[in-house]
Amino acid sequence: MKDFISLHDLTKEEIEGLLELALKFKKENKEGISHHILKGKTLGMIFSKSSTRTRVSFEVGMTQLGGYPLFLSSNDIQLGRGETIYDTAKVLERFLDGIMIRTFAHSDVLELAQYADIPVINALTDLLHPCQVLADLQTAYEYKGKLEGLKFTYVGDGNNMAHSIMYGCGKMGINCAIATPYDYKPNDEVVENAKEDFKKSGADLLLTQDVHEAMKDADIVYTDTWVSMGQEAEKAERLKVFMPYQIDEKLFKEAKDDAIFMHCLPAYRGYEVTAEVIDGKNSVIFDEAENRLHAQKAVMATLMAD
Ligand code: CP
Ligand code: NVA
Repeated sequence: MKDFISLHDLTKEEIEGLLELALKFKKENKEGISHHILKGKTLGMIFSKSSTRTRVSFEVGMTQLGGYPLFLSSNDIQLGRGETIYDTAKVLERFLDGIMIRTFAHSDVLELAQYADIPVINALTDLLHPCQVLADLQTAYEYKGKLEGLKFTYVGDGNNMAHSIMYGCGKMGINCAIATPYDYKPNDEVVENAKEDFKKSGADLLLTQDVHEAMKDADIVYTDTWVSMGQEAEKAERLKVFMPYQIDEKLFKEAKDDAIFMHCLPAYRGYEVTAEVIDGKNSVIFDEAENRLHAQKAVMATLMAD
C-alpha cells in the first residue's frame, strides 16, 4: 500500500489491518499511551474545500504520532494559481513525508499520487471519501461486534459517501442497500467496480429508488447532505427532489429495532434527517466523528512509519 485513495484498491486483509490498528490506537489513546512513530515526519495537508473533522483529526492525529501537520490551503499555494500537479508533486516530495489532499476532481488526486514518490491520502474528492468510511467501518464494528453479514443502508444522494460506502461494504462482506432518486444514482463505473467486490465477498448490493425496500432489516442507516460541496447552485432543486428521502422517525423505525444511525457530518437537520433521529438514542454520530482520528492515525502510521 503506497497510497490511500480508494477502498477499492485495498484488499479485505489490508482494510482489516487498518481497522485493528485503529482500534488499538483508540484503546491506547484512552489509556494515555502514546506512540511517536512519525517523529520527524511532516504531512502536507492540501485543502481546496472546507473541513472541520478532516482537518482537525489529521492535525491532531499527526501530532499524537509525534509528527508535524502542515496545513496548505489551495488558495495560498501556487497550485491554486495554476502551477501544475506534476510540479507540485515533484517539489512537495522533496520536503514532505506524505500528502493529504481534499479537492474536487478525483483525477487530480490520482495524478498527484502518480507523480509524488511519497504517500498520498485522499481526504475527499467529488467521487470518494475513503477516510470517512474507514472510520464508519470501525464504528459499525464497535457497535455490532462484526461487519460481515450486516445490512448497511444508505439513503440520499448517490455521491462520494454512497460510493465509498459501496466499496467498503463490498470489500468487507456487508450487505448494502443504496436508495437514491433516479437522477441522482451512484456513478456507473463505481457501481461496476463495487460489484466485483460484492461478488468476491458474497454480500448483496441493492440499488433502488424505494427507501422502504432499502430500510427493511437494516442494521446501519446512513445519510449525507443533499447538497455537497461545490453543488450550492443546485440547492433549491435538490431540496425538492430529495424530500421523500428524508430519514424521519417513521422511516427509521422500518430498520431493525437496534439499528444505529450514522452520518458523516456536517448534517442539516430538517433536510436529510430530522432532529429526532440524529439526536435520538440510536444515533452514533459523535463516536463516528471521533473515529476519524483513530482510523486516520492507522492510515498515516501504515503509510508513513519507517
Ligand atoms: N465528514 C467530514 O469529512 O467532515 P469535514 O468536512 O468537516 O472534514
Ligand atoms: N458529500 C459531502 C460529504 C462531506 C463530508 C460533500 O462532499 O460535501
